[in-house]
Amino acid sequence: MNRRDFLQGVTFAAAATMTAAGPVFAAGDGQRHALPKPDVTQGRPLMACLAARRSNRALGREDLDWPTLGALLWAAWGINRDNGRHVIPTAMDRRQLAVFAVRGDGVWEYLPKEHAIKRVLDGDRRGRFDASGLVLLYAAPGNDRFAPMHVGSMYQNVGLYCASVGLASCVKYQQHEALDAELPLPAGWMTYITQSVAHPAR
Ligand SMILES: Cc1cc2nc3c(=O)[nH]c(=O)nc-3n(C[C@H](O)[C@H](O)[C@H](O)COP(=O)(O)O)c2cc1C
Repeated sequence: MNRRDFLQGVTFAAAATMTAAGPVFAAGDGQRHALPKPDVTQGRPLMACLAARRSNRALGREDLDWPTLGALLWAAWGINRDNGRHVIPTAMDRRQLAVFAVRGDGVWEYLPKEHAIKRVLDGDRRGRFDASGLVLLYAAPGNDRFAPMHVGSMYQNVGLYCASVGLASCVKYQQHEALDAELPLPAGWMTYITQSVAHPAR
């Protein structure tokens, strides 16, 4: 796909450009936050995480702190090596994937190269989903046959991270496309699935 085709159909005062690392979205106020480097010594051992992994739908409403958000996004789509490759494997090292964090203070795109987030939509849109503290959206081109596998790797990593630190999480297909018309997605892209993450509701 050439750049012109790629940009065709982009709506909502948005622009997207393709880079070697994948798409870069532009919308909202573009405010950026650097995220704390993930603490790779944190959490329970892997076997204990596997034993503890489960869906928990009793999700709290409060926002997660920056280190937790950074660790979650890194677990999903972070870069874990000097050669720029990611925590998850992807077919042919494809990088046409995006993770959005729906928070009380807007919708933020994860920027793996900078390990930062950029606001692409203003306002609290968590009520469009299950209103839990954080809703992650996993997006990719609709015609990428590998995309469901890639997003599955992302949500599984996040679920295991949640198990490692005692957070509640649930993968959800319900309302997964609720923001697609507003998000600055390139033509043909879609949100495949969502994942709600929060402190367990008391
Ligand atoms: C692709 C996928 C879609 C799911 N969609 C929903 C959903 O829309 N709503 C929901 O409450 N749970 C959803 N779940 C969670 C499953 O219901 C849950 O994983 C399953 O019941 C097994 O429970 P466990 O995760 O605790 O092992 C989904 C899970 C997956 C993997």
